[in-house]
Amino acid sequence: AYRLNYPDEIMPPHKHSPSAIRFGLTGKGNFTGVEGEDVVFGPGDMVLTPNDAWHNHGTVGGEQAVNLSVLDLPLVETLHAVHFDHKYTEMVDGKEVEKKVQTARYPSDYSQRIYGEGGLMPRFVDHKRGGGLSSPMYVYRWEKMEAVLDAHKDWDGDPHEGIVIDYVDPTTGGPVFHTINFYVQMLRPGEKTLPQRETASLLLAPFRGNGHSIIDGKRYDWNQFDTIAIPGGSWVEHVNGSSSEPVIFFGATDAPTQKALLLYKRWGRNQAGDLLRLV
Ligand SMILES: [Fe+2]
Repeated sequence: AYRLNYPDEIMPPHKHSPSAIRFGLTGKGNFTGVEGEDVVFGPGDMVLTPNDAWHNHGTVGGEQAVNLSVLDLPLVETLHAVHFDHKYTEMVDGKEVEKKVQTARYPSDYSQRIYGEGGLMPRFVDHKRGGGLSSPMYVYRWEKMEAVLDAHKDWDGDPHEGIVIDYVDPTTGGPVFHTINFYVQMLRPGEKTLPQRETASLLLAPFRGNGHSIIDGKRYDWNQFDTIAIPGGSWVEHVNGSSSEPVIFFGATDAPTQKALLLYKRWGRNQAGDLLRLV
């Protein structure tokens, strides 16, 4: 889904069993308060609202902002495991009081301060936040991702995927949610990937650049802010349409769910067209 709130609109807190992320597309004032951390985010920043974590969405700063939302709702619904809670309360003078806005309990840069340095983690905080069911790092800033992409742009990368960087839970090294893995995929100028097929379903949102994908033999052209849905089992190849600019996709895959059920598989073709089992 794409979300646009009115300028300076903030919705009341709620929580639910489906996990969600927001990825900033336009404007600097996207807002999500999550478990007492007030996060304002802009293009390329990813914010988590995990399973059972209180959150409220909106826009601040008087200007419109748009973000892309990705949820595991269809899976959770299929499993009959959806529950919502809209009654947000805080203790005020020893009494439980219902509130329309979460009071900030963490500094607004908490996620970056505690988890922002890969491989180094402060010991003095409780890493079980919200429902304790996902990554406790709730914000992944674009600035860091962009620096990592830049540092790796000259590697050969993967012939079927180009350069892919996963978002990980800093406490486990695994995906941020147990159901969905999120990543950023870069195709260098002129890059064309070899055909690949996997059991997982993918959602790819071109964040920068333009080009086309061939999905089961059919060509789909795409541009910035489009979303491409690639059903599990499809053969797919991507082509960067520019010889001077990279393509950056924001991606989501249900591979973690399939891996937990031992259903995940991946195949590819090499330059000669031979079929390869990759995973
Ligand atoms: Fe929600």
